[in-house]
Amino acid sequence: MSTKQFDVVVIGGGPGGYIAAIRAAQLGQNTACIDEWKNDKGGPALGGTCTNVGCIPSKALLQSSEHYEQLNHHFADHGITADNVKIDVAKMLARKDQVVKQNNDGIVYLFKKNKVTFFHGRGSFVAAKDGGYEIKAGEEVIFAKQVIVATGSNARALPGVPFDEETILSNDGALRVGSTPKKLGLIGAGVIGLEMGSVWRRLGAEVTVLEGLPTFLGAVDESVAKEAAKIFKKQGLDIQLGVKVGEIKSGKAGVSVAYTDAKGEAKTLEVDKLIVSIGRVPNTVGLGVEAVGLQLDDRGAIVVDHDCKTNLPGVWAIGDVVRGPMLAHKAEEEGVAVAERIAGQHGHVNFNTIPWVIYTSPEIAWVGKTEQQLKAEGVAYKAGQFPFLANGRARALGDTTGFVKFLADATTDEILGVHIIGPFASELISEAVVAMEFKASAEDIARICHAHPSLSEATKEAALAVDKRTLNF
Ligand code: FAD
Ligand code: NAI
Repeated sequence: MSTKQFDVVVIGGGPGGYIAAIRAAQLGQNTACIDEWKNDKGGPALGGTCTNVGCIPSKALLQSSEHYEQLNHHFADHGITADNVKIDVAKMLARKDQVVKQNNDGIVYLFKKNKVTFFHGRGSFVAAKDGGYEIKAGEEVIFAKQVIVATGSNARALPGVPFDEETILSNDGALRVGSTPKKLGLIGAGVIGLEMGSVWRRLGAEVTVLEGLPTFLGAVDESVAKEAAKIFKKQGLDIQLGVKVGEIKSGKAGVSVAYTDAKGEAKTLEVDKLIVSIGRVPNTVGLGVEAVGLQLDDRGAIVVDHDCKTNLPGVWAIGDVVRGPMLAHKAEEEGVAVAERIAGQHGHVNFNTIPWVIYTSPEIAWVGKTEQQLKAEGVAYKAGQFPFLANGRARALGDTTGFVKFLADATTDEILGVHIIGPFASELISEAVVAMEFKASAEDIARICHAHPSLSEATKEAALAVDKRTLNF
């Protein structure tokens, strides 16, 4: 059988890989994508971590649990009460699985529409040959001159504490817990710790989060992190900072975690389930990097330059398997840019304007520099802040927590960072991203007409606050 030839082969069908494949095909390249993820029937489940055990299912559970929280604690303010409110966790999980499946199927449809050839199975480098690469795609061997590696990342386990996905859970098991645990422990108060901790706390679990660092959400603007810590504590999340986790024992009865708290006191946390969310490791398992000499760094990430070029001609790498933030939209942007570079265009990713969102309640979103970064870099800046408490739409919604904060260059007024904690922060941040991408000044946003009543008026007012001229506060 002759080897199938492609212009571009993408290994990995997560948000980085599938988007790269679609863009390459749109640009006229004969493109294949290889992905090994299996659904519960052994069939393909395109979309990677993001679709199967990441962004999409976590947001589905965050939505379901938030409805439950609203009905139990906040609807009464609107005059709506209900007796005998129950949560059917099995149904909630089934809905989440359905949402995942819709996304899996959507990508299959997109591959057909864009004429991307899909191989279900593992992709691995066999050899460099004839100015290109032989790649094993499941049971077949295929050939391409251009290869995009988008193999993603896996959850990092604590040394000597493997995930059993029954009591010691990665993000995968954390999204499949069959009933609300009475006591839930999480190690790591990062993005997954806070999102998954919020889901199970809303559903009634007693949640304790053990964080190694003494600072809460160190990468977030300090004023936002401070506000978030206050709110999460009030909601009942017990977040302990500066702990040192020791021995972890798990059995049928649950898990016990020995740790030393910030004061140096030895303690034990007994929980029914433990989620370990201490970051993720780039995934190159079984990729055959040694067969072609693809260079990895000491974290196991594929070494790439600013343009996602690896050390091998014609081999590119994108998304979680390379440097930079582990975010789906960062992976997608890199995928598009690489496909365009392969086609001779000038794909570009602006790393300064990649937004971050934490989907807790309130949501936290930001883009650009934090105040502490600007101070450390010695940049002269002006800050403007506006609370949702003074926003009409937020009052009508019944959610006035948080604020919008602008940081602008003291001389040029260029927006350097925008930080939001509050309702729909995930949606509001887009305006800030657009503004920064167009190098807008705070005054530009302040002078733009924003619909009334809308949460986006808080963004306009925060921009006005940079020049100390808010109208509604
Ligand atoms: P992945 O999505 O990991 O996809 C890689 C794919 O490659 C997988 O399907 C894998 O099976 C396949 N693969 C690996 N090796 C091979 C091989 N050798 N052969 C064939 N196939 C292979 N990011 C956000 O932006 N927003 C969020 O809200 C968000 N929420 C998250 C929630 C959780 C719980 C987690 C864990 C992550 C979340 N992320 C979120 C991060 C996001 O999921 C990742 O940044 C994103 O999935 C990375 O995309 P990727 O394409 O690089 O890799
Ligand atoms: P994370 O990097 O966000 O947080 C890990 C936390 O664990 C850190 O605070 C770290 O200090 C702490 N930690 C590390 N080792 C520890 C130890 N031994 N003991 C105690 N604490 C320890 O990683 P997380 O939450 O696992 O998520 C992984 C990545 O997935 C995120 O960084 C993000 O890129 C992505 N993600 C994005 C989401 C979003 O965009 N909304 C949602 C969830 C995940």
